[in-house]
Amino acid sequence: MASRDESAIAPELPAPVPPRGRLPMLEFFRTLRDNMVATYGEEAYEHDIIERKMFGRRRFLVSEPAAIKHVLLDNAANYQKTEITRRILEPGLGRGLITAEGETWRRHRRTMSPAFDHRSIMSYAPIMTAAAEELLADWSRRGADASIDVAAAMMEVTLNIISRTMFSSDSDRIVAIMERGAGRYQAEMRPNMLDFLGLPAWLAGLNRVRVAERTLGEFDTEIDRLIKLRSSNPENGPKDLLARLIAARDEQTGGGMTAQEVRDHVITIFMAGHETTAMAMTWTWYLLSQHAAEEAKLHAELEAVLGGRVPNSEDLDKLTYTRMVIDESMRLYPPVHTIAREALAEDTLAGGAVRYSCTLLLPSLRRRASHLHWSSLRHRRSDASARHHGAALPTAARGRTSRRASGPDNTSPPPWNENGACFARVGFGCDVSRFPTWPSAGLDSASGCR
Ligand code: HEM
Repeated sequence: MASRDESAIAPELPAPVPPRGRLPMLEFFRTLRDNMVATYGEEAYEHDIIERKMFGRRRFLVSEPAAIKHVLLDNAANYQKTEITRRILEPGLGRGLITAEGETWRRHRRTMSPAFDHRSIMSYAPIMTAAAEELLADWSRRGADASIDVAAAMMEVTLNIISRTMFSSDSDRIVAIMERGAGRYQAEMRPNMLDFLGLPAWLAGLNRVRVAERTLGEFDTEIDRLIKLRSSNPENGPKDLLARLIAARDEQTGGGMTAQEVRDHVITIFMAGHETTAMAMTWTWYLLSQHAAEEAKLHAELEAVLGGRVPNSEDLDKLTYTRMVIDESMRLYPPVHTIAREALAEDTLAGGAVRYSCTLLLPSLRRRASHLHWSSLRHRRSDASARHHGAALPTAARGRTSRRASGPDNTSPPPWNENGACFARVGFGCDVSRFPTWPSAGLDSASGCR
């Protein structure tokens, strides 16, 4: 049956206005600092692949799903994270899963895999629903007329969730430290012109090590203390994610991870895990506030499946419409809008030649026209199975990583596992028309998500 064209009735949603042609150099770097998506010109939304040269180096913007799948899955061994990604992330995140490559990356994936299998993630669900309960109780105490900064609230709830999962009763102190440091690190670590000029990392980022020390030093001190404490008394400490990482052993070699490696993974998981899920939920609430009929359907499903009780991990498979809402929100406002890779050897992509060390940006703009309209029906399971595999960018990227590593795989895409229980609980307990003050929600709705 043909799906209803929801875009015909849906309002146009905020998105950056794509520039026509190329931005002048200085404007490009100013825009890049504020919002990378706003640097993508109109033609990037229309063509499968476009080539740009800057300071003699070639960069490709790839939007065609088959080409993205080729880079992330079929020929993944030929592509690695970019030099700029490493320059920005390594000073603070060290060599966690996001920055590690090759054999180191494979060994760490194998070692950490059991802590992230489906059963383990589902065992963290009560932490998510408890945090959602506290949030709802707080909102209810504030009363119906209170103005709520939803973006800040989502950031806080996801930070609480990741922190309690990782550190159990030690989490409150870490949350306070991360609230002070994480945002500042991200705000100050932006790519600049010196990175594009290809200057040595130490020169282009003289300041970056200092920024990392200033913003994340307090976290390092605390995490070192906790790792020492837990390692000295493994039997009696809490059985949380930190304990699992310290105890984790590579099934092939029997080796564990050093304190530095555990630290790098902890901070990577913190950074990768809380802002992404907070962004996904914030944009979802925003979208629902603009689409009353969709919100009513969501409430009807949550009422039918949960009937007022707190969701558990088994409920997630039954919340099919809820899942479609989150999928559509992440299509329109993807929390990770661009994946970047560097070619290790020549390749052919969308009919063109890719040379050694070319940079590829995979923003998946085909999934997201420059004018945004809501259409959650596109995520029906029947339609989803017929979709091009590479069309689901975050899932495809994660699929690549788990497939290359040995160990159990998640059966459900991570954002659903990780968001679902918290989202369902908050969604059930609140009416988004209660959030009348979107402009103050901390969302930069005019420029899209960053
Ligand atoms: C809506 C939520 C999320 C989205 C959209 C998302 C998206 C992504 C994407 C696109 C990548 C691939 C990046 C690349 O290869 O360049 C990635 C990697 C990663 N994410 Fe997430 N993520 C989400 C939630 C989480 C959570 C909750 C955690 C941890 C608890 C997490 C931890 C990681 C880690 C460790 C990696 C690196 C994996 C590897 O390379 O082996 N993410 N994520």
